[in-house]
Amino acid sequence: MNDAISSLSKGKRKIRPIAIFSKRAHVKSEKEYNSIYQRSISSPEKFWEEKASELHWFRKWKRTFKWDKRKAVFSWFDGGKINASCNCLDRHLEKNADKTAIIWQGESEEQVRRLTYGELYRETCRFANVLKKKGVRKGNMVCVYLPMIPEAAIAMLACARIGAIHSVVFAGFSSEALRDRILDSKCKLLITSDGLWRAGKDVPLKDMADIALEGCNCIKHVIVVKHTSQKIKMKGKRDSYWHDEVSSRSIKDICNPAENDAEDPLFILYTSGTTGKPKGVLHTTGGYLAYVNLTFRWIFDHHDTDVYWCTADIGWITGHSYIIYGPLSNAATILMFEGTPTFPDVDRFWKIIEKFKVTVFYTAPTAIRAVAKFGEEPVKRHNLGSLRLLGTVGEPINPKTWLWYYEVVGDRRCPIVDTWWQTETGGILITPLPGASTLKPGSAGKPFPGIEPVVLGEDGKEVKADTGGYLCIRKPWPGMMRTVYGDHQKFIEAYWKRFRGFYFTGDGAKKDAEGDYWLMGRIDDVIKVSGHRIGTAEVESAIVSHEAVAEAAIVPFPHEIKGQALYAFVTLKKGVNGDNSLKEALRAHVGRETGPIAKPDKIQFVEALPKTRSGKIMRRILRLLAEGKKDVGNITTLADPSVVEEIIKGIEK
Ligand code: WT7
Repeated sequence: MNDAISSLSKGKRKIRPIAIFSKRAHVKSEKEYNSIYQRSISSPEKFWEEKASELHWFRKWKRTFKWDKRKAVFSWFDGGKINASCNCLDRHLEKNADKTAIIWQGESEEQVRRLTYGELYRETCRFANVLKKKGVRKGNMVCVYLPMIPEAAIAMLACARIGAIHSVVFAGFSSEALRDRILDSKCKLLITSDGLWRAGKDVPLKDMADIALEGCNCIKHVIVVKHTSQKIKMKGKRDSYWHDEVSSRSIKDICNPAENDAEDPLFILYTSGTTGKPKGVLHTTGGYLAYVNLTFRWIFDHHDTDVYWCTADIGWITGHSYIIYGPLSNAATILMFEGTPTFPDVDRFWKIIEKFKVTVFYTAPTAIRAVAKFGEEPVKRHNLGSLRLLGTVGEPINPKTWLWYYEVVGDRRCPIVDTWWQTETGGILITPLPGASTLKPGSAGKPFPGIEPVVLGEDGKEVKADTGGYLCIRKPWPGMMRTVYGDHQKFIEAYWKRFRGFYFTGDGAKKDAEGDYWLMGRIDDVIKVSGHRIGTAEVESAIVSHEAVAEAAIVPFPHEIKGQALYAFVTLKKGVNGDNSLKEALRAHVGRETGPIAKPDKIQFVEALPKTRSGKIMRRILRLLAEGKKDVGNITTLADPSVVEEIIKGIEK
């Protein structure tokens, strides 16, 4: 670490806005932010009406905001008619038909594609017509199981165009996980590819989809993008190739956008929670679009000449909001990258930034840590002079990583926006605004206009400054999820019950005396592994479904690159021998049941799990043990305290 960083890290951890940046920024000063914020909170409806009016509406809404607190039912812009794809495409054609919408960089360096807004419009219309031909109608569910290729964007926009609801499933999820999601939302059509590239390997995605579909009668058609050289089996009437479909003579270049209601669902996206299977988070059209449109413009300070790159996958909310709907509704040029930060070499990110003169770069702390490990040299190999703004998302970023990003990647010229949000929130809620905010490494800054966070104590009262508590949000904002698909009761229980009238985020946080928020991680049974959200209940049930296993408990432990990783405590059935080969078998089993990202890093076989007398597993104790602590506090409530001693002896280093 050089001098500048160490002086920064020794207390003076404040970085004022950079004058030349602020000058042309959308929000230019702390003062301007304060006044916008005050206004947005005293009359939120007026604020959002103004912002939503910047979109294209077929018909204006009748009622800006309606909220039935008791039922946790709310709406924004009810009665308005709007189409998300039209706002991302048609609206830009007059001025920006020839502007690049998507630059696609494949995993292999030579593979590059560019689509202008005119081309993206045409491709989307044609594919929307294919969907119609296959019988997809407004309100139908379409599953997208694709790698990071332009067809993923086209498929999502085509669904939006005809009022179908997309459900994107991360292509790193297994067949089992895909099947669960397809069945839960009864998807009618699946879009996938023959294979996908992962660190030079051709992964058989279509084969995995075929296995998933063995148990799904709801899927009538499968459309397959040819992408790798994977040999696949096509099933008679059900399967067809994307390229054959879109190039068919009967498919027209124009598809009029459906006039959807503002509150018609735009998509569902599954995410893990505290209990049971992943929930289908449902987002609607008008409010969501208004929210991601404005947050993208202000937080990433979008200007016409920017080349914006978000490294997230389309399978997560970040991909939905800040690769597709936010940027495209602003006519941004986005970069889409199929590969990973360290393949074929550890300078891959920097190589791409230099190659395409990326100006705004948005990634996850885990990715920064993965490359920072190799030091400055791979970064310095490249000219990153085009960069002007950096962002992070997905987990708390520790000040050391923040400073490395600021100093080495951003050359101390680029503000960093540490953006806090969730699948449920639709868009970013807490963040610096790059031209206005004083940055503090490790803090996500202040609330975005229109958002009222509060930190509550156990008793539901707001805690004092610098005191940790439960992060909640006071009122629904336009981008907030509307319900859990098919289970509104779950929506109420998971988010609105614990603190009545507040949205409960599941995160711990504290607010400092200057009003900046410091996120402290999840306080429920969700674990963030490499920024991915893993539900312990899900992984536990995957492990327990293995024939050798009696019981399992999953807890997090700190991991240098991943942030957190999974530690599994497992009891086996009588007579089963817990050796290394069984550990490997269990890891493979979890990979098949859920996906590679859910594989535990450590597995310890134990005689018994620590339980209360009523039989509840004490995960709190296991968590401390997994962190390497020997003193776990009061264990007198345990049915058998000696279990803890036994476990300590076998803790994995
Ligand atoms: C959880 C939501 C939001 C897009 C990606 C993740 C954690 C997210 C930050 C941040 C500290 C963060 C929280 C949150 N998180 N961003 N900037 N600082 N923590 O979406 O998969 O729904 O996960 O990610 O714990 O609850 P998600």
